[in-house]
Parts: sequence; C-alpha cells; structure tokens
Amino acid sequence: MSVKWSLLLPLLLVSFSPLVSTGSVLVWPADHSHWINLKSIMDELTARGHQVTVLLPSFFQAANTHETFPFHLEVISVPFSKADMDSSLQDFIYFWSYEMHEMSSWKIFTKLYDLMSELLERNKIICDLIVLNEKLLKKLESAHFDILISDPLAPCGELVAVKLHLPFIYSFRFSSGNTMERLCGGIPSPPSYVPASMGGLTDQMAFLQRMGNMLFYLSQDVIFHQVIWKDWNKYYSEVLGRPTTLCETMGKAEMWLIRTYWDFEFPRPFLPNFEFVGGLHCKPAKPLPEEMEKFVQSSGEHGIVVFSLGSMIKNLTDEKSAMVALALSQLPQKVIWRYKGKRPETLGANTRVYDWIPQNDLLGHPKTKAFITHGGTNGVYEAIYHGIPMIGIPMFADQPDNIGHMKAKGMAVELNIHTMTAKDLVDAVNTVIHNATYKENAVRISQIHHDQPVKPLDRAVFWIEFVMRHKGAKHLRVAAHDLTWYQYHSLDVIAFLIVCVALFVFIVVKCCTFCCRKCGSIRKKSKKE
Ligand SMILES: *[C@@H]1O[C@H](CO)[C@@H](O)[C@H](O)[C@H]1NC(C)=O
Ligand SMILES: *[C@@H]1O[C@H](CO)[C@@H](O)[C@H](O)[C@H]1NC(C)=O
Repeated sequence: MSVKWSLLLPLLLVSFSPLVSTGSVLVWPADHSHWINLKSIMDELTARGHQVTVLLPSFFQAANTHETFPFHLEVISVPFSKADMDSSLQDFIYFWSYEMHEMSSWKIFTKLYDLMSELLERNKIICDLIVLNEKLLKKLESAHFDILISDPLAPCGELVAVKLHLPFIYSFRFSSGNTMERLCGGIPSPPSYVPASMGGLTDQMAFLQRMGNMLFYLSQDVIFHQVIWKDWNKYYSEVLGRPTTLCETMGKAEMWLIRTYWDFEFPRPFLPNFEFVGGLHCKPAKPLPEEMEKFVQSSGEHGIVVFSLGSMIKNLTDEKSAMVALALSQLPQKVIWRYKGKRPETLGANTRVYDWIPQNDLLGHPKTKAFITHGGTNGVYEAIYHGIPMIGIPMFADQPDNIGHMKAKGMAVELNIHTMTAKDLVDAVNTVIHNATYKENAVRISQIHHDQPVKPLDRAVFWIEFVMRHKGAKHLRVAAHDLTWYQYHSLDVIAFLIVCVALFVFIVVKCCTFCCRKCGSIRKKSKKE
C-alpha cells in the first residue's frame, strides 16, 4: 500500500464510523434531585459534541440561578412562580413526611390525591404552553432534533416527542407499584418475588406477604388506570386528535434508563430495552474546602459522621432538632450536619452545621465512618459508590423503598423519624460503625458497583447515541405492547382450555350415563322376558 493510501485509510474509517456523528437532543427534565441525574447525562452528551436543548419551565431551579450551563435552555414562561411551586411542594412533602403516618388509609388517599391533582393541574398548564403553542412547535421542529430524553415524573415529555415525531428515552427511578414500567413499559414483575415499589417488602416473601404484594400491585393498577391517568388520557387524545392513553404513549419509549443497578435491586426479570444505570452521577471525591478538611482531620481515629436529610427537608420541629443535636453530641465522632433550620441549643462541640455540604466529597473522604441519610436515590448511590454504611431516616417518596433495599443488603439500619429517641440514634450510629458486618457489606456492594465492563454513565450515553444513530430501537420492543391484559396473561387461552376440558368431561359423563341407562333397560327387558 502506498503511503498516500495508508494515510487516507484511518480517515476513511473515521468518516464511515457511526460513532463520530453528533446530533441534537431535546430534554424534558424534572427538578431537584432528578435534575442532578439528568444533568450528568446532559453534561456528558455536550462533552461528546451533541447539541442539548432543555425545555425548562421558568420555576425550575436551573432557570433561577446564576449558574451557566453548557447546554441551551428553552425557558417556558409559566404563570406561577418558583415560590408558588416550592410552597406547594413543601406542603406535599410536609404532609407525606409528618402528617400521613397518623391518618387512616382513606384520608391519606384522598389528601394525596388532592395534593397530586394540584401539581398535575399545573403540569397540564405547562404542557399546554408547549403542545398548543404553534410558534414554539415550529421552532422545535426546525431544530431537527434526533431524540427526546424525558423524566416521566411529570407527564408531557412523551407527548412532545410524539408531536415532533421524535424517538424518546426515559430516565426513570420507579413509580408506585411499578405501574408505569410494568403496565406501560411492559417489564415483567411476577408478584411472587418482585416486591412492588412502595410496598416495603423484599424479594423474600412469606405467603401473606406475597398476597399483600399481589393485592398492592392490583390496587395500584386500579388507582393509576381509573384515577391518576384518567384526565391525562383525555388530554393526550385531544392533543393528538385520536383516541389514545398516557400509558400507550409512554409505551412508545425506545429505552428505559433505570436509575438503579444490581448492587441495589433484587434480581428480577427485565426487557432488552431496559438498562440499569444507577449511580451514573457518582464521581471520585474531590478535596474538601480547607476549613472543613481541618475539622474532619481533627476527628482523629474516631472519624466523622455525615448527616443530611436532603435539600427538600429544610427544617425539623424544634423538639426534634434538639433531640437529634443532643444525640449527635454524645458521639465520639465529629459530625457534619447539613441543616437549614434554626440551630438547636443542644448542639455539641463535635457537630458543625452547614447550609450545604459537598456530600460526595465527604462520603469519599477516608475519615468518613457513617452516613445518616433520608435515603434519596442520589445520596444512597454516593454511599454505595464510596462503600459507606448508612443510618436511614426515610421521610417521603422513594426514600422508604431505598432504605428498605439497603437494609436488606445489610448496609443500613433504619430509624423512624416519628418515634426515634436520642438513644436510638446513638445506638444506630454505634451499630453501623462498630458491628463490622455493615462496613463489610458496604464495601462488597461498592465493589459490585465498580466491577462493571462499562460505567453506568457511558452505558446511558451509549443507548442515547444508539437510538439517535438508528432512529429508534424497535428491534428491542416486545410484542407485549400489542396484547390486551387478558391476552398477556394468556387468560383467553386458559379460559378456552378450561371450556374444552369441561366440555370433554361433560360429554364423557353424558355418554356414560346414556350407556348405563341403555344397559339397565336391556337388563330389565331380558329379566322381564
Ligand atoms: C418549618 O418551617 C416552616 C416555616 O417557618 C413551618 O411552616 C413548618 O411547619 C416547619 N416545619 C416543621 C417540621 O416544623
Ligand atoms: C452485627 O449485625 C448483624 C446484622 O444485624 C447481626 O446479625 C450480628 O449479630 C451483629 N453482631 C454483633 C456482634 O452484634
């Protein structure tokens, strides 16, 4: 081969390789902790040369900071402010964290329904501002996006995708009773060993627990189909101009990127278009700010405890925060507590309170012994990444479920915010630090997390680019989407077989009785003769 050709060959290979093409990505995000997760994906896509545009309602945190982003924000001006949304959300969280546990199930259901309806009503207003805005739709159309990435916490992402004829991908944690991924995504979830999320069970279930799990699945199916999705089904049908449902539209997702992995999940069946990318936002720890590092080093051999109830729980009651501070003051460790509420008077000399902490860097610090957490998915994954055992104080949403998983895996102790005493908290921290099994399990799970052929973020980005290159991933789509529920469970076949067997038995019985009667009458006749 001539020199000229050998120089040309790599160039040719590069230009034919599908890996180098870049595209444009449209994102329908969710706020707060969900945003952190999506942002990791968007940052990586931008770093690889893709154009990323985010449809951002004006009340989102990202629209209200001075932070600059490496991607384009298409801000949707909505008729309510960040303060309005924050206060609704705080009401919701306050109810879920503090009031719900004292109520009857029916009251909980009606109150949750009211609170959720309010949030969904606003969601619909935002959706209107996009799908009914011809000018915006034209603009989006002319941008020639290749894919839409959606967080289904708030509906509408899939509707925008269908309107713009774009393939779309979900970034998802779970829905109560796995309803969305099960009923809309088609992921098999046998109730005998796949515990429904929010049901509080593990994969080891006794008879009554299996029954409870199955009934929970069924109740969620009814609630979602008959209550939660009703209005949306009508809305989606109106916007698309043909009868459809929210669930059917969700089922068109090319891929579901689930924000967990087998370090966290119980083994379960899944489909080829489900990829488990938990912990994709996790990174090695960076050095701490100087003042904080000094404090951490002053802990000596006892080490430190990191304590955060997340960004949504801004304050505890005075009584509760005093109790917590008192408990923390009794620990030999130094404590770093993220807390925005009033500083309790019982705060010990070993405890420092901050409005914000570099949580990932702290969890990755060699002096960190334990993590007291509300159990949000992001924080739990940072603890898994760095192998730190946890004391879980779940408050709302997926938190009880997350802590349930970590408890079952032996790397967490769970406390109840409503009933715990100072002694419980001290005992829990001591258990997790001094009973070696918790640290051993944390390290083992961390090793499982790190021992993957391709890192979660790279897998997530691979599938996004795959769908962009191939304009979808229809070859991964199971035919279950085309079946009705009774066909899916083969109920029609079972019913047919039962009828066949019944008919057969009926004919046999009829023939026998007929023959017997015949024989009987012949015998009678011969006797007479
Ligand atoms: C937190 O503070 C707000 C405003 O001061 C108050 O309305 C709310 O009840 C407090 N939360 C708790 C748990 O005490
Ligand atoms: C440590 O914790 C494990 C799991 O809870 C428990 O089975 C074991 O008895 C504990 N060991 C000690 C020495 O307390």
